[in-house]
Amino acid sequence: MTTALAHPNIALVKYWGKQDKAGNMPATPNLSITLSELSTVTTIGDSDRFQFQLNGEPVDDPKVSALIAAMTENFNLPPLRIDSTNNFPTSAGLASSAAGFAALVTAVDAHCKLGMNPALRSEWARRGSASAARSICGGFVALVPPDWQAQSLAPAQHWPLEVVVAITRQEAKDVSSTEGMERSRITSPFYNQWLRSAGDDYAEASAAITERDFEKLAAIAELSCLKMHSLMLTSRPTLSYWTPASVACMDRVRELRSQGEAVFFTVDAGPQIKAVCLPESRAAVAKALADVPGVLEILCSPLGEGARIIND
Ligand code: PMV
Repeated sequence: MTTALAHPNIALVKYWGKQDKAGNMPATPNLSITLSELSTVTTIGDSDRFQFQLNGEPVDDPKVSALIAAMTENFNLPPLRIDSTNNFPTSAGLASSAAGFAALVTAVDAHCKLGMNPALRSEWARRGSASAARSICGGFVALVPPDWQAQSLAPAQHWPLEVVVAITRQEAKDVSSTEGMERSRITSPFYNQWLRSAGDDYAEASAAITERDFEKLAAIAELSCLKMHSLMLTSRPTLSYWTPASVACMDRVRELRSQGEAVFFTVDAGPQIKAVCLPESRAAVAKALADVPGVLEILCSPLGEGARIIND
């Protein structure tokens, strides 16, 4: 048996839309931070047939089955039993699939002694879910052309940011990211503009991280997030992952910033708000978001490490 652990990552420059070719590659460069307090733990053992359990229940997940089938063909794997557990809500806009596929590929690689380097693990994780490519690395992570294998921009210690997550709905989302981004690619009148501006957004955010310029990162991360949600809103049929509390949290974050707190928000394909802040603002941000009506729970996390084996 082999056990791997991976953390979700939160994109600060978003990916929303895939390239029109095999390999599950994003259409635009993107970058993320990896969270240490949320994690997926995946144990792999030998079996007489393929079995997959998520949070203790047998699950038929077509993306997991497809990835295991592709790896089996490529590496001649034996049948495996896979047990995966998340310590946070699944499929609710908290990047559970990113942590899940990063942990899965890391565990399969070690258990079957495939000898992959992190770049190759990232490529295989990407085939499961493109954002999963980034969870192979820790800290600040880029997923860019031409290889679309995640690379570290800076380790977590480079800039000790904190993330406060406001949970506004626990249930799994109705429209998956894959379906939602394909709808936007095909129908949003703003999709081409999104493709054109993504390179500049990426360059600005990565410079802000190198320079540890919080204001610059705040401005570009909120812009990238709201551009992505604009694509969702302008898709046909329209798509919105927000709850009223999500909107109230975004307003509260802007208000906190105008009062001098170092904080900005980002939101993925789900209703949770991730408030990224400097350590000295974390307590005030967590308290303020906990008081927003409709917020069910607050999670706090510093930045974390990449996917790794935790026992063998
Ligand atoms: O990894 P996917 O294909 O499920 O897409 C995730 C997309 C977002 O989380 C909304 C943005 C991102 O870059 O992570």
